[in-house]
Amino acid sequence: MDFASLLHPMPTESFISDHLGRGVCVLEGPFDRFESILPWAQINDILERHWFDATRIRIVKGHRHLNISEFSPSIATYPISESGLRRRQLSAESLSRHLRDGATLHIKSVEDLSEEVAELASSIERVFKERASIELLVSYGETPGYQAHIDYVDVFAIQIYGRKKWAVWEPTRKWPLLTDPESAPKPEGEPQEIVLTSGNVLYVPRGTWHLVTPAQDLSVHLSVSVSRRTGIDLMKWLVEGLHTMEICRQDLPMPVDGESADQEQHLRQLRETVIKFLDHPNLIDRFLATHQAAQPFRQVFDLPRTITGSGLGNGGGWNVRWCAPMAVVDMDPDGLVVRAGGRCHRFGAESLPVIRFLMARTTSSLDTVGEEAINPALQPSDVRRIVWDLSLAGLAVVEEIS
Ligand SMILES: [Fe+2]
Repeated sequence: MDFASLLHPMPTESFISDHLGRGVCVLEGPFDRFESILPWAQINDILERHWFDATRIRIVKGHRHLNISEFSPSIATYPISESGLRRRQLSAESLSRHLRDGATLHIKSVEDLSEEVAELASSIERVFKERASIELLVSYGETPGYQAHIDYVDVFAIQIYGRKKWAVWEPTRKWPLLTDPESAPKPEGEPQEIVLTSGNVLYVPRGTWHLVTPAQDLSVHLSVSVSRRTGIDLMKWLVEGLHTMEICRQDLPMPVDGESADQEQHLRQLRETVIKFLDHPNLIDRFLATHQAAQPFRQVFDLPRTITGSGLGNGGGWNVRWCAPMAVVDMDPDGLVVRAGGRCHRFGAESLPVIRFLMARTTSSLDTVGEEAINPALQPSDVRRIVWDLSLAGLAVVEEIS
């Protein structure tokens, strides 16, 4: 499942130009289209096989968070270590009981717990060039979990099973930020009522007030959060860059004998310096590229191949998957550079068409990469070597086709 499939039949470009940041939007589809993302068996598997702490899992009922000890007792690790190391184990009995009584189960960062959800997150990151975080919410009955609130990120609610009632109000403060010194006033008036049924997606822009209530039904939905860069982020980055300028590091002048002429002269110089920085061509693109290149990306392991360095033999078929959706690729005087996850990787200039080809797709067969990453100078052995180098750098992963 990828981002384009969430929007289907609406093209991604139409969503971005007509709906992104503009208002709530329901994207409808067949009722069972999301069941393969997170089947019940996998939800059970996640609950059984992972350790959770209070930052990762919540049970919310009637606007109150239950204490984690109410559904996840602390137990000693086995064998009991001298240091008394303990961990939490979810109690199947109490978790089911709380959900049966109308509580909402809320698990964060599900993209780290499920391959299908991770693929969805990566495809969203490829479009927005921002990290996508995905939360799972399971509820039953009709008791609301959280109070009416706003989120400081754009949200896509993907209804996998059942249905949920959404009451939404227009933002009461445009473009609110988590760091905002002023909070958004509570909404007044009647909300827009939306019943989100399985197979549908609700897009909720940042700052939209919403109250979500189970609709007397079993409901499972994924909440995808995407944080976008703002003018404040750009200005903070700009201030970092201004540290190189003497005039910006200099002490601010004090008034002398009540005269502020020095201060006015100093302010003029500061203004000119800031304007000169703002006038740099493609400033927003440069800022976004710096931000993207610093973003951590989901790590994919390919052991033991990357330990033994066995490379890709000449026989057999391979699939290749690009792992760094927010990577930034540039040519500089020293050659090709790929910046991703806060690191800088250098490759030969001949790698560029292969990298561009892989970055535009989820998974490609190695043969297709060779055929379509058109560069007549590249032999199949060159493509294998390039892909192997990318694999060792953690930027791509190869899977043998069985
Ligand atoms: Fe929310």
